[in-house]
Amino acid sequence: MAGNITFTMIKPDAVRGGHIGAILKQINEAGFSIKAMKYTKLSAEKAGEFYAVHKERPFYGELVEFMSSGPIVAAILEKDNAVADFRTLIGATNPAEAEAGTIRALYATNVGENAVHGSDSDENAQIEASFHFAGTEIF
Ligand code: RTP
Ligand code: MG
Repeated sequence: MAGNITFTMIKPDAVRGGHIGAILKQINEAGFSIKAMKYTKLSAEKAGEFYAVHKERPFYGELVEFMSSGPIVAAILEKDNAVADFRTLIGATNPAEAEAGTIRALYATNVGENAVHGSDSDENAQIEASFHFAGTEIF
């Protein structure tokens, strides 16, 4: 059965671009509710740990540098079928391939600086939520 939570980050490019409010509005209007949220900044070490699965990829260094380059908004979102529905809402990794109206089509700059993160499985949603939030910060 599909789980009902996913984890997201509004990435440094979208924060710098002033898009936090518009992105949160779109997330809410798509039926997601917020279980946890914080405005924070990842150290390079934390960003590296978060994206450790991509360690061997050629873009890993760039990704870590970008994700630690400025503040982000981290959040746990709740909705039926949260992981898949949120991936649909954000669109393809490369904004050039993202469906019109998706968050990445609207706000991403390029494949590296692509405005938002969304968990790719129920298992990773739980791991990523725990990586960023203590139990007492989740409602
Ligand atoms: P995310 O994990 O951030 O939600 O993105 P995703 O699932 O759509 O894509 P993934 O394959 O997990 O890649 C993670 C992030 O790495 C950066 N990336 N850069 N330069 C490149 O070719 C490249 N490919 C991926 C992006 O920031 C991507 O979101
Ligand atoms: Mg991913």
